[in-house]
Amino acid sequence: MKILVINGPNLARLDIRDSKIYGDIDYPQLVEMILAEGGNLGFEVDVRQSNEEAEIIEWLHEAADASMPVIINPAAFTHYSYAIRDAAELLKAPLIEVHLSNPMAREEFRHTSVISGIARGTIAGFGPNSYLLALRAMRNLLGK
Ligand code: DQA
Repeated sequence: MKILVINGPNLARLDIRDSKIYGDIDYPQLVEMILAEGGNLGFEVDVRQSNEEAEIIEWLHEAADASMPVIINPAAFTHYSYAIRDAAELLKAPLIEVHLSNPMAREEFRHTSVISGIARGTIAGFGPNSYLLALRAMRNLLGK
């Protein structure tokens, strides 16, 4: 089973983002962890990152057409992209939202997620483990 993991803007630069908030790992290490856990769970995981809303929307259309399950960290788009929400709503397979940090414990503008309402669930605040927990949750959802 193929799973698409989508990462939004600025996540590829974890190396220079605030390590007190996002931890010490860089993006290639995060991808490695996701691929390793995905492999353990028997998934073929496709991990992508984009700083562009349009590209993320295209990937969601692709996943909708392929009935592919999606784990998404929309990054800052979480808080305001109705276009990404509308595209994610087209998915047929489960969608799980993840965040490295806990947006609810941060600035007020991060307290709103326009994605959560259409996701099966949200996992936030556990650093890279948020993704690993999401992969496990996805496996349970898919009944594997
Ligand atoms: C984030 C939280 C967002 O508020 C922020 O804009 C990000 C990363 C997280 O993973 O903690 O870029 O999605």
